Amino acid sequence: MEAVAAVLRSGKLFRDEDHKNSQCTQFEREACQLLGVSYGLLVNSGTNALIAGLIGLGIGPGDEVIVPAYTYIATAAAVVAVGAVPVIAEIDDSLGLDPEDVRRKITPHTRCIIPVSHAGGPLSPERPASDRRGAPPSGLGGLLPVHRSSVLRAR
Ligand SMILES: Cc1ncc(COP(=O)(O)O)c(C=O)c1O
Repeated sequence: MEAVAAVLRSGKLFRDEDHKNSQCTQFEREACQLLGVSYGLLVNSGTNALIAGLIGLGIGPGDEVIVPAYTYIATAAAVVAVGAVPVIAEIDDSLGLDPEDVRRKITPHTRCIIPVSHAGGPLSPERPASDRRGAPPSGLGGLLPVHRSSVLRAR
């Protein structure tokens, strides 16, 4: 809260002016350390996080991305925003992706799966609905890149 207040008080709402020392850059550094990853990008919304992730994976026109039938519109809209095609897969009792339908929807054009967790359900489409251990908080989504070799193996 203090960091947010400091940004508002400074009157500088964009980080371009002092990129290296901005609160955003500091936050990214700390988040990377916490998560044990090399790169992190702070964005202003979940929608833009999805779009940035898809762009980072090189997904665009000609690619298909599997999304759950039950989710917020941003899941499919992010796919459309990068020029790819959202392919809707059924959900199961977990309210998340049905692994069987995901398998049916995979084609040679599938590049990514976006699972979305609801009400503490499993995030991985490989995990059965009954397995709720270690489930992420409700509404959390992620990007699972699909490599051509695994698509061909799944078929
Ligand atoms: C599953 C899911 N993905 C993405 C979003 C989009 O997040 P934002 O509204 O921050 O763009 C939401 C918003 O509710 C969401 O529920």
